[in-house]
Amino acid sequence: MRRLRQSEGVRALVHETALAPAQLVQPVFVTHGDAEEAVASLPGIVRIPLAGLGAHCRRLRQLGLGGIALFPKIDPALKSADGREALSPDTLVLRATRTVKEAVPGLLVFNDIALDPYTTHGHDGVLSADGSDVDNDATVALLVEMALLNAAAGADFVAPSDMMDGRVGAIRAALDAEGNTPTGILAYSAKFASAYYGPFRDAIGSAPRAGGTGLSKATYQLNPANRREALREVALDVAEGADMVMVKPAGPYLDIIREVRDRVEVPVAAYQVSGEYAQIHAAAQRGWLDLTAARDESLLAIRRAGADFILTYFAEAWARR
Ligand code: PBG
Repeated sequence: MRRLRQSEGVRALVHETALAPAQLVQPVFVTHGDAEEAVASLPGIVRIPLAGLGAHCRRLRQLGLGGIALFPKIDPALKSADGREALSPDTLVLRATRTVKEAVPGLLVFNDIALDPYTTHGHDGVLSADGSDVDNDATVALLVEMALLNAAAGADFVAPSDMMDGRVGAIRAALDAEGNTPTGILAYSAKFASAYYGPFRDAIGSAPRAGGTGLSKATYQLNPANRREALREVALDVAEGADMVMVKPAGPYLDIIREVRDRVEVPVAAYQVSGEYAQIHAAAQRGWLDLTAARDESLLAIRRAGADFILTYFAEAWARR
């Protein structure tokens, strides 16, 4: 076996898995503020003010990245139990989308569709009258409106990340009814109830609050123990009209990525989430891991498992390497 490993040349020749900037999507946090704000638990990641967003995205475009995924940090004063700020025609993410599309029309923009940035309780939807559950169908109705607004603002893909039942079909039907056939759907299909989302919730201020409901996201996100159930979610989203499906998180779920890749023909995305990024940085800060080597290996492994493209906080740094 070592004949195929004995030199740089032969190793490059038989290298099986390619990774290119066009296969990486950078999550971008935006803020109402007028200065960049560091995110403590995501070293190297900042929230970008609207005024700096055009220039920031022009740089990302020049690196050849596949696109950006926009996430707003909403002023707590604008949050409510029903997350109605999500439907305000001038809400931060819509202004950000218009700004990016004006400055860099060719950069693909993926807009997250879920209510968690806007709700006081941090859930992805609205609660039932007694607060004991997230109301599926009432939430889907709001997500449809939210998706239409994000599409009209210029999002290339709307990306429902809420895990309500039936939302992909409802969003597709509403887009089509408006005559909006070009806007696509990247479905967060196999999204697990994961501890690895912690730093993201710091970044957008969506962590479940003290005095909150105690209701767990496990009532809508997948159980990390469940493989077959993840495949059912993917099949449903494809049947409902998803153009692309996603597995999230990525690194701890490489088996799911591979099974999904082997079963569907649509493009498969994987989201290397905030906690995956943070743990590599944290270990590197202590001198326990080599940052760039661990970063590169983690991304290669996600591609090798079968992801066509990867949402990752490393996108920009990797493309600059
Ligand atoms: C919310 C959403 C989450 C992420 C993306 N969209 C977090 C959650 O479900 O609480 C997590 C991304 C990350 O951790 O990087 N709809």
